[in-house]
Amino acid sequence: MNFPNTRMRRLRKDENIRKILKEINLQNSDLIKPFFVKEGIEEEKLVSEDSGIYHHSIDSLLEKVEKCVEEGIRGILLFGIPEEKDKTGYSAYKENGIVQKAIEKIKNNYKITIFSDVCLCHYTSHGHCGIISNGEIDNDETLDVLSKIALSHAKKGADFVCPSSMMDGQVRKIRTDLDEEGFENVGIMSYSSKFNSSFYSPFRSYAENEPETNNGNLEDRSTYQMDYSSKFQPIREISLDIEEGADITMVKPALPYLDIISKAKEKFNVPISAYQVSGEYSMMKQGAINTSLNEKEIFLESLSSIKRAGANFIITYNAIKAARWLNENKNRF
Ligand code: PBG
Repeated sequence: MNFPNTRMRRLRKDENIRKILKEINLQNSDLIKPFFVKEGIEEEKLVSEDSGIYHHSIDSLLEKVEKCVEEGIRGILLFGIPEEKDKTGYSAYKENGIVQKAIEKIKNNYKITIFSDVCLCHYTSHGHCGIISNGEIDNDETLDVLSKIALSHAKKGADFVCPSSMMDGQVRKIRTDLDEEGFENVGIMSYSSKFNSSFYSPFRSYAENEPETNNGNLEDRSTYQMDYSSKFQPIREISLDIEEGADITMVKPALPYLDIISKAKEKFNVPISAYQVSGEYSMMKQGAINTSLNEKEIFLESLSSIKRAGANFIITYNAIKAARWLNENKNRF
């Protein structure tokens, strides 16, 4: 039955029917806020003007976590920035490293789910996500270190450890070691489908993890992160991570990879997270500052579209603001 019998606009004719028919309802509990906690600073410092991103001391981090709780955010993702870096990333698994201390404090003070990033790039002097030997990333040697990092987080109370280095076998190694040490209730959110993306560039100053570029085959992260033209590899990566024991699988970045989120949702029965990365955030933020784009509208639209593609939740730097917008609009959303 086509026009004039079918009139799709009947379904949009007033606000009530539009709300009744709403298929995607973004909620505060869909939002995870990432934080950077830095060793050796006394108070929070803006990473750069207009970025809206801070390096936190433990105290300033706790204040922001409290804000998250007040606004109805249920989870945070933690990144640590150490004072000392070396070739082996030793400071990533120190018992009293900065992120370990932060996890412990948050765990003891707030009811919020702690996701902790497990990677080497913020801790190695060369900025790569793995251990380098003979000019190459040594995948299997890196696994031992990633597992030590994950265990050091679990011991302090991380709810989910989140391996993000794209090493083969990282989920299996971490799952096995967590179980052996009695942490069978600590989950794994794996950055399974992580692309070698130019949208990460602002993050390099957030996390101080710019990789060295004069390393031959290691001039960037392309030997471990996926090429952005890949359609088949991300699905295979996700299915391997699920077999290895991932509880949650991530697609990263989000907006340029909605097709991957959607395909993963169709194929797999595990929760999917999406990471709205620094470049996506920065583009929208700068757009709102410098052009007529409305920050609230573009963020809520982009977050809703990531959810519509199939993400169960979204990691976004604008989580606190977005939660506030959702709270203000309680009656309309
Ligand atoms: C690396 C890592 C990256 C991000 C988080 N962890 C990517 C990279 O630097 O290659 C990017 C997140 C963002 O851009 O917001 N383990």
